[in-house]
Amino acid sequence: MRRIIYRSLASPDLDRAEMFRLLYQARVANEAKGLTGVLLRADDHMLQLLEGETWKLVATFETIRRDPRHRHVEVIDERSIAQATYPACPMRYFDSLHIAEALKFLNEQTQGHVPRPIEDAVRGFFADAFADADGVSPLLFEAARPSSARPC
Ligand SMILES: Cc1cc2nc3c(=O)[nH]c(=O)nc-3n(C[C@H](O)[C@H](O)[C@H](O)COP(=O)(O)O)c2cc1C
Repeated sequence: MRRIIYRSLASPDLDRAEMFRLLYQARVANEAKGLTGVLLRADDHMLQLLEGETWKLVATFETIRRDPRHRHVEVIDERSIAQATYPACPMRYFDSLHIAEALKFLNEQTQGHVPRPIEDAVRGFFADAFADADGVSPLLFEAARPSSARPC
């Protein structure tokens, strides 16, 4: 089993309606192929985590990489894994209005032990997507942990 984490930039025509169409198709396809993962989007920045059986994952990623609905596809991390991190999700999606939910979800599904490559990728993603929110990103995961003090 394998995991790929990549970042990309949405094409201008990947608007809300097209995004939900894409997600629906991706979920149906992933369910059939046993692939799972999470997709985050903040403005045009996208981060996808995709996991599954190696050859199905690699084949699907090659299609995704060439998809004109996004560009600047950059693999952040790729590695073998023993089991899926988010096995119940054919493709869970969070946009920038749901960052808190995204972090809560990523944490809860792993009982607070988000694998390091995922944590690093998500931190980097939010740091770049919200470059002006200095000082927020290092605390993202801590803030989302149920035991943490609430920020207000
Ligand atoms: C940001 C992004 C994420 C995508 N994620 C998936 C995915 O998780 N699974 C999938 O099958 N297709 C995904 N796609 C769509 C694929 O690029 C492709 O359209 C789809 O696999 C159908 O390919 P086909 O027409 O060759 O069958 C994604 C596309 C984009 C732009």
